[in-house]
Amino acid sequence: MNKTIAPVLAALLTGLLLSACDQAPESDVSQVPVGGEVAGADAAPLDRKLDPAQIVRGQAVYDKNCLECHGANGKGQPGDWRIRNAEGRYPPPPLDDSAHAWHHPTKVLMEAIRDGSPGGEGNMPAWQGKLSEQEMQDTVVYIKSLWSDPVYRLWMKMEQQSLEE
Ligand code: HEC
Repeated sequence: MNKTIAPVLAALLTGLLLSACDQAPESDVSQVPVGGEVAGADAAPLDRKLDPAQIVRGQAVYDKNCLECHGANGKGQPGDWRIRNAEGRYPPPPLDDSAHAWHHPTKVLMEAIRDGSPGGEGNMPAWQGKLSEQEMQDTVVYIKSLWSDPVYRLWMKMEQQSLEE
């Protein structure tokens, strides 16, 4: 691709991805009915089918490699992760359920970790070659363990749809 246009395109794509994600979150969470069917289901803890051993391993990988940017327990950093910094780049978003990591199916989360910022035009490093596939999968499981039950249920629906596509 043309050298001068590639960074511009990558920046545009990053912006699009982030803004597309921006539109859904709060409204989705607020649509979870309180006292409705979900509340009944809440009585029984949600079976996430996440392997506890994988969560432990994933947290170790996370704390060593990701915490410095994405914060302890995926809480991100002080300040608004939706506002670009002086270099026009986005700060590392929280990966818990307060941002939009949970809007992505497993496949997309894995791609974000493997390949880093789209086009290399952001501050998310590519982990391919630095972490094994297993370590990246463990980290994704750990990240999912940070989401609340109502958010996890929404994510499960979205994951299901992405698998049917
Ligand atoms: C040097 C800082 C830095 C480190 C270290 C880092 N990230 Fe990121 N990460 C970012 C930034 C910045 C973004 C936002 C994407 C962009 O700007 O292109 C991001 C985005 C992401 C996303 C996409 C989130 C979303 O809501 O779409 C995931 C998932 C992610 N990182 C996981 C990880 C994992 C797992 C690790 C450790 C293996 C890690 N990151 C390490 C800076 C970092």
